[in-house]
Amino acid sequence: MKKYKIAVIAGDGIGKEVMPEGQRVLDVVASRYGFALDYDELPWSCDYYVKHGSMMPADGLQQIRNHDAVYLGAVGLPSAVPDHISLWGLLIKIRREFDQYANIRPVRLMPGIASPLANRKVGDIDFIIVRENSEGEYSSAGGRMYEGTEREIAVQESIFSRHGTDRIMRYAFELTRRRARKHLTSATKSNGISITMPFWDERFHAVASEYPDVKTDQYHIDILTAHFVRFPDRFDVVVGSNLFGDILSDLGPACTGTIAIAPSANLNPERLYPSMFEPVHGSAPDIYGRNIANPIGMIWSGAMMLDHLGHTEAAEAVVRAIEAVLQEGPKTPDLGGKASTKDVGRAIAEAIS
Ligand code: NAD
Ligand code: IPM
Ligand code: MN
Repeated sequence: MKKYKIAVIAGDGIGKEVMPEGQRVLDVVASRYGFALDYDELPWSCDYYVKHGSMMPADGLQQIRNHDAVYLGAVGLPSAVPDHISLWGLLIKIRREFDQYANIRPVRLMPGIASPLANRKVGDIDFIIVRENSEGEYSSAGGRMYEGTEREIAVQESIFSRHGTDRIMRYAFELTRRRARKHLTSATKSNGISITMPFWDERFHAVASEYPDVKTDQYHIDILTAHFVRFPDRFDVVVGSNLFGDILSDLGPACTGTIAIAPSANLNPERLYPSMFEPVHGSAPDIYGRNIANPIGMIWSGAMMLDHLGHTEAAEAVVRAIEAVLQEGPKTPDLGGKASTKDVGRAIAEAIS
């Protein structure tokens, strides 16, 4: 039987509550479809930081670099560790060191969920955000000067390399080409951000010339956020920089009822390193410990992991089970229900066919 080695990092807060539900569903679907997942459970988190002074051991990345994938819950416990320390020490570190430059974030209005946008039904919102995940606004180039004085300055450079920009554009065009509508939208801000964003547009158009079958358009990020709310049906695939993609990938799922169901894949498309699968949401310290976190983002991210491992049918079975439970099963409070994290995880596991 084919066996995959999965690095499991539950992380912080509700990551620790939703991860067991993700594993529960994966185990059922794996045995149904004839493969096995061997979990290497790693305690890397803010608790680990408090004990050891780092988010992961010095050889942490070495320990998991030959695994088939990383399955991650959420990172962040701002009451104990500043967010920029915990995130750059674990989540962003893995994304960068494993060159997971393509962050794929599907946005879909699911059956059984009412969109907060009026008159939107299943099928009206179904697009994918392709977020550049390795450079852009998330850079460590910069610093602080004159600290503590009236003249204090904080500078952080945005870095857009041709290599980094072209490869995310190409990934987005290849993905769009495989979809029915073949329509790619670029998120820009070249009216105000006058050096990097004109460069982003230039590379978008240059790569577009290799894909005459793909219809393209572009919007400045400000009006694009408005269009997400007014006309979400217009979008098929949306490519954005690291920061724009981050913002759009909370806004999109909010339009589909809750950010808690949104999944994501951090891909190293060349498969030189493991890819990482995690919900879009964070560690939600405000609800942690109450067993009310919605586990669907975690479970759906597991489906994306199975798809990446080549088990497309098993992945589809997970998404079908999520849809079935959303239509007539238990719901957590973010979706207006009273069910617990475990109730929803169990119901989805039972609905696997
Ligand atoms: P968040 O996504 O953790 O929470 C935002 C809101 O959504 C909260 O009200 C929360 O209760 C709710 N929510 C989130 N996930 C939910 C779920 N599964 N079920 C029900 N409700 C859910 O964002 P935040 O509050 O900005 O950040 C909290 C911490 O998480 C911070 O430390 C932040 O840096 C970190 N964070 C981590 C990741 C990640 O690990 N990928 C992503 C975002 C934020
Ligand atoms: C996400 C998160 C992270 C990001 C944070 C926690 C650093 O918001 O995965 O969307 O900005 O990439
Ligand atoms: Mn985010």
